[in-house]
Amino acid sequence: MKKFISLIVAATLSLSLVACGSSQNDTNTSSEGTSVESSSNANDNSQGDGGSISKIKEKGELVMATSPDYPPYEFKIIENGKEKVVGFDIAIAEEIAKDMGVNLNVLELDFNGLLVSLNAGKADMVMAGMTPDEERSKAVDFSEIYYLAQQGIMVNADEKDSLNSLESLAGKKIGVQKGSVQEKIAMEQLPDSKIVSLVKLPNIILELKAGNIDAAIVELPVAEGYVKQYPSLALSDAKVVDETGGSAIAVKKGNQDLVDQINATIKRLQEEGLIDQFVIDANNIVDTMVE
Ligand code: ARG
Repeated sequence: MKKFISLIVAATLSLSLVACGSSQNDTNTSSEGTSVESSSNANDNSQGDGGSISKIKEKGELVMATSPDYPPYEFKIIENGKEKVVGFDIAIAEEIAKDMGVNLNVLELDFNGLLVSLNAGKADMVMAGMTPDEERSKAVDFSEIYYLAQQGIMVNADEKDSLNSLESLAGKKIGVQKGSVQEKIAMEQLPDSKIVSLVKLPNIILELKAGNIDAAIVELPVAEGYVKQYPSLALSDAKVVDETGGSAIAVKKGNQDLVDQINATIKRLQEEGLIDQFVIDANNIVDTMVE
């Protein structure tokens, strides 16, 4: 009984910690064919109830929660003086919305608050370059994997030669995003390094450039984008192992209809070669990213 109670206390604690870590503001995307309405307050549950297809169609909008700090997956740019969330995840989500005959509405949250918000009914789906790992699969359902990537380790260019293996990272500070699989990978595969978990990716980049941390682990396309944008950064030859390395879309547990609907769009886009095209398009504008 005692054990049970402390388990509940621990679970509640970690849940509220996760909740505290999330900031909420809405960002709308707009592109041809998807005129997007500005949604109301993110704390207002009316904008999403965990997304049954009929409710989504009734609302006329698909609410996607994401953490737009992960170029080329999702990031922010300024277009016509206005902030806009773009990236290949957004392009794919727009196709999912299009296939459902609704608009896409992008809800911006911190990465470590995404699944809690999904289960609280604040969004219909979460799409954030998210790896469908075992632990998350207990809490939510995932679509098929729509994109596969390796992991990359970023370092400062002047340390590329010395920080070139996992061994060379012993005793060093490694930046990872809070609640990400990279956090887990780092703890397991770099037991002799100091793991620094930060909520927002731009802060990890700042800390790395300032030399306050020595390396950062992110999906390889993300590392490549940042290295391209900041010549003072480089890709290390050190490599971590990642069994999944894929991204999938999360929906509330038990919502098989929505998973099927999403999978159908993913399949169509793969057959049409559009996902690869969206990745290329997103990579082409990574250097116009803000933040
Ligand atoms: N793939 C990693 C994970 O699922 C990192 C994803 C980070 N995504 C983001 N939008 N910041 O944990």
